[in-house]
Amino acid sequence: MQIIRTAAELESLVGREKNNGHSIGFVPTMGALHDGHLSLVEKAVADNDVSIVSIFVNPTQFNNPTDLATYPRDEQADFKLLASTGLTAVFAPTVEEIYPGGTEGRRRHEFDLGQVATVMEGKYRPGHFQGVAEVVARLFELVRPTRAYFGEKDFQQIAVIRNMIESEGIDVEIIPCPIKRNADGLALSSRNALLTSDQRRVAPGIHRVLEESLEYAKSHSVRATHDLVVEEIEGIPFMRVEYFEIVDDRTLLPVEEWEEAGGIVGCITVYCGDVRLIDNIRYK
Ligand code: PAJ
Repeated sequence: MQIIRTAAELESLVGREKNNGHSIGFVPTMGALHDGHLSLVEKAVADNDVSIVSIFVNPTQFNNPTDLATYPRDEQADFKLLASTGLTAVFAPTVEEIYPGGTEGRRRHEFDLGQVATVMEGKYRPGHFQGVAEVVARLFELVRPTRAYFGEKDFQQIAVIRNMIESEGIDVEIIPCPIKRNADGLALSSRNALLTSDQRRVAPGIHRVLEESLEYAKSHSVRATHDLVVEEIEGIPFMRVEYFEIVDDRTLLPVEEWEEAGGIVGCITVYCGDVRLIDNIRYK
């Protein structure tokens, strides 16, 4: 596994592989890797001739400076985990390599991400998806992937990336991958490392309540199901629900009736103490 630090080195590897007609699988990450990330990497390695992971804590997608400052980082542990996956290369650049013009001031480019970027995370984290689009577009420009792998834990992010590649005319296949969980149900997340032991003990309650709501939803309205989930989760110590929205899986707009859409997903963001956790569940 090669460790690549500069855009120039990466472009030369990619150029060589493209000339040989090789497919490239790409997994963008912000590091502090866990089995959720590794499940994406395994797929990328299995499906492609060449596989590349990026590790880059992207400053432009953090709307909260404390969140950026406390975001967990452990590059050496990440390299060790990746070394046994059969990965071709890990790209771990500096901020300057990704943003040669700097990250301050006017953005180079305003992305057209559609209304899926304005709801939920888009509403509570202003600018977040512009930052995600900016870094993913830049990484796609360097890696020129055949396929790119994204986790359904960040359900809305996948919809936003699909809109970004369409509006930018980028040719890449987006592969959504299922959520990986701890045995107790808590969705794996780099941020779980920030939980205190008391918070970690109650955090699986988020998934437990969501899962219980599947049964409840069969005989209750969308509104009643929504209210039950919020009430039950807020009854757990440390927990405050930022939003819970039961949405059409394509438009990401809230539904009022279960019959209203072909696919329906409940997306939640919960503060467990100061730690912002996200999760989701599919109703149909
Ligand atoms: P990060 O949070 O590091 O996640 C990298 C990828 O791993 C994302 O596609 C995310 O959905 C996926 N992932 C995280 N936890 C997962 C889990 N428990 N199960 C399955 N997949 C999981 O998402 C980002 O980074 C950034 O926004 C990024 C796309 C890299 C742009 O900076």
